Amino acid sequence: MRILGIETSCDETGIAIYDDVLGLLANQVYSQKLHVDYGGVVPELASRDHLRKIIPLIKEALKEASLVGTDINGIAYTAGPGLISALLVGATIGCSLAFAWGVPIVPVNHMEGHLLSTMLENNSPKFPFVALLVSGGHTQLINAMAIGKYQLLGESIDDASGEAFDKIAKLLGLDYPGGPALSLVAKKGKSGRFSFPRPMINHPGLNFSFSGLKTFVANTIRNNVLDEQTIADIAYEFENAIVDILIIKSKRALEATGFKRLVMAGGVSANNTLRIKMAESIKKIGGEVFYSSPKFCTDNGAMIALTGMLRFKNSINNVMDITVKSRWPLTELSPLV
Ligand code: KG4
Ligand code: ZN
Repeated sequence: MRILGIETSCDETGIAIYDDVLGLLANQVYSQKLHVDYGGVVPELASRDHLRKIIPLIKEALKEASLVGTDINGIAYTAGPGLISALLVGATIGCSLAFAWGVPIVPVNHMEGHLLSTMLENNSPKFPFVALLVSGGHTQLINAMAIGKYQLLGESIDDASGEAFDKIAKLLGLDYPGGPALSLVAKKGKSGRFSFPRPMINHPGLNFSFSGLKTFVANTIRNNVLDEQTIADIAYEFENAIVDILIIKSKRALEATGFKRLVMAGGVSANNTLRIKMAESIKKIGGEVFYSSPKFCTDNGAMIALTGMLRFKNSINNVMDITVKSRWPLTELSPLV
C-alpha cells in the first residue's frame, strides 16, 4: 500500500510517498521564502504559493519514487490545525486526485503527524509515552496511549515556544523563521552576562508560560546596544531559558505518568541545545528521549503520509468531503478500531 501525503497547513508545501513495506519512498518539501519581508507568515500569500508549488512537487515526488499516479493507493492530507486558506489548497488537490485515481482519502491532524513523526526513524518509540509537542503554534505535553488516544497533560497558557523564538529573533534583527537563526547566533554567546526568568517552573502542574520571559527579554533588548556579541549573549541565555523550562516540565510529566519514554516533536525539537540537554537530563532519571532528524521535526509531508497509512491500515477512513479546521485538539481524535 502506498500513500501520498500532502502538507499545506502553514508555510511549507510538503509532499511524500510512504509504502507500508518499503517505508518512505519520496519526500519533497518547499519552504516558502516570500514571508521573510513581513517577518511572519501572511496567510493569503501562503495559500497562493502552495497552489503554485503543489502540483510540481507531486510530480517530483512521483519521479523520486519512480512511480506514476495510478500506483498510489490512498491519499492523506493535513486537515488542521492551521491556516484555513492554506489547508484548503492541500484538501482540494488531495480530494481531486483521490476522485481522479479512485482511491480513498483520509484527513490527518497536523499535530498527530508531528507526534508520530519519530516513527519515521529506525529507533521508533512504543506506546505509551509522553509527547512534548513544540512548534510555532503549540507547546503541549501529551499522554500518548495509542494512535488516536491522547490526553492533554499541559500546554502553554500564552505564546507557543516556537512563537517566542520567532518574536525574540525578530527583535534581535534576525530573519524569519527566527528559531534556527537565533539558535545559530546563540552558539557564539557567552554565559553569565544576562540572566532571564524561567516562568512557571515553581508552579505545580504541567502548563507553560512564555510571555513573561518574552517581555523580560524584549526589555533587555531595548536597554542594550545591539552589537554582535550582545545579540549572541541574549540569544544564548534566551535559548537556555526555554530549554530549561521544557526540560523541567517534561521530567515532571514523566514522573506524573510513570512513563520512561519521552517523544519530542515539532519545529522547536530541531533545536540542537534542546536535543542534547533533554537527552542528558532524561537519561539521568532512567528514561529515554526520541526525536527525529531535523527534516522531520519541521513541517513535512512524510509525517502526514505515515499518519494516514497508520489510520488506513487500522480503520475505515474514506472521507470524500473537503474537511479543514483551523483548531483541532488532539484530544478530539478517536482511537483506531
Ligand atoms: O512544526 P513547525 O515546522 O511548524 C508549525 O507547525 O508551527 O514549527 C515551526 C517553528 C517556528 O517557530 C520555528 O522558529 C521553530 O519551529 N524552529 C526552531 C528551530 N527550527 C525551527 N526553534 C528553535 N530552534 C530551531 N533549530
Ligand atoms: Zn508543524
